Amino acid sequence: MKRPTLLAVAALLTMGTAEARAIDLTVAEKTYATVCANCHGRTGKGMASFPSLAGRDATYISDRLKQYRAGEKVGPNTPLMMPQATELSDDEIASLSVYISTNFK
Ligand code: HEC
Repeated sequence: MKRPTLLAVAALLTMGTAEARAIDLTVAEKTYATVCANCHGRTGKGMASFPSLAGRDATYISDRLKQYRAGEKVGPNTPLMMPQATELSDDEIASLSVYISTNFK
């Protein structure tokens, strides 16, 4: 079932950006479940050195993902996270940020 969800207005509000992004929560859900959940857990609570993403707002998540994508050091385990972000597009980062911040409290 392919159901692209366009929430450009929500993206504008939550990301505080002047650029509208194509938010696709169906793709974000799939990416999270197949990639991110391996380390951050199915409900985003994290484990051991994998940080919890639950309760983070979309701007925080998207800022961190852009730092990792740019190759910036964020925390002590940046080398584990950086390769996960290098291939993400701006739309994918926006979609994942909205998906995570609205689903994992
Ligand atoms: C191989 C395990 C692994 C995978 C897969 C992974 N992460 Fe991470 N993630 C980490 C680790 C470890 C950190 C902490 C890195 C550091 O110390 O900077 C992290 C940090 C983060 C942070 C910053 C958290 C904070 O509190 O600052 C975000 C946001 C994040 N990951 C999102 C994602 C998303 C979205 C995906 C899927 C595209 C993903 N991660 C996939 C291991 C992983």
